[in-house]
Amino acid sequence: MIRKVTKAVFPVAGLGTRFLPATKSIPKEIMTLVDRPLIQYAIDEARAAGIEEFIFVTSRGKGALEDYFDHSHELENHLKKSGKDELLDLLRQTNMESGAIAYVRQHKAMGLGHAVWCARRLINDDEAFAVVLTDDVVMGDPPCLQQMIEAHAETGGSMVATMEVPQEKTKSYGILDVEEDMGAIVKVRGMVEKPKESPPSNLAVIGRYILAPTVLGNLNKLKQGAGGEIQLTDAIADEIEAGRDVFGLRFRGQRYDCGSKAGFLQATVAFGLEREELRDEFVEYLHDVLAMRKAAE
Ligand code: G1P
Repeated sequence: MIRKVTKAVFPVAGLGTRFLPATKSIPKEIMTLVDRPLIQYAIDEARAAGIEEFIFVTSRGKGALEDYFDHSHELENHLKKSGKDELLDLLRQTNMESGAIAYVRQHKAMGLGHAVWCARRLINDDEAFAVVLTDDVVMGDPPCLQQMIEAHAETGGSMVATMEVPQEKTKSYGILDVEEDMGAIVKVRGMVEKPKESPPSNLAVIGRYILAPTVLGNLNKLKQGAGGEIQLTDAIADEIEAGRDVFGLRFRGQRYDCGSKAGFLQATVAFGLEREELRDEFVEYLHDVLAMRKAAE
């Protein structure tokens, strides 16, 4: 029987240079879509998928991120006294149980593979674990990680979330070499990180992974890959070399690349439109803006 996946690693050590100057004083994971920071979307998705232990790989300057998950007694008391029950509820939903979060530090930016490797002592060698990249925000029902955990329960091995991207975008992603396409699930024969030419397919890896613990062993080699960084993609590809299974799941849902400004803006619009209390006013505004732009052309 495949053991339940209960741990997730959140690599949050990146500097967020693409969002300077905002990220000069706040971690990019604290940037908000509507009213919730990116990290909250990631945590909520993981919780919905049954994750109980949350491992953050952080770095210098990420203090605000660690504080975010503390209980805010002062604020809670204030809301309680002033009868703001709805807000109080909302705030409490963000509270994490003591001991559910662990922070490990990545001392040097050496790539995604290295960041995940930093969590190796917190993962047992008989348990699969999840990795969630907070830059990739996925709107899906059921949430993307839940779809993956359910699919993984059937397949075992390791699994990455995947989606088709236009050929010219393949150089920005980990790309799958497909052995067998079974529809929603594909069996993977190889993986290439950010191929400069001849991508093996147009199936890109999106920032959700369920990994066999042996991937951490592969990372022990600390082998440099694309861009001189230690790549998670390479450590997963090593699984295939070792004769272990790797699958891709074409998840159902919409993924937003919140690591880019354009993607962040698109996500802001999409999540804004999802909110009932904002929708009517926002739709009207968007119509007006577009009509004005058209008239000006
Ligand atoms: C990382 C991974 C890449 C994956 C991407 C998804 O790249 O290395 O394989 O396709 O996330 O967002 P990054 O975007 O951090 O450079």
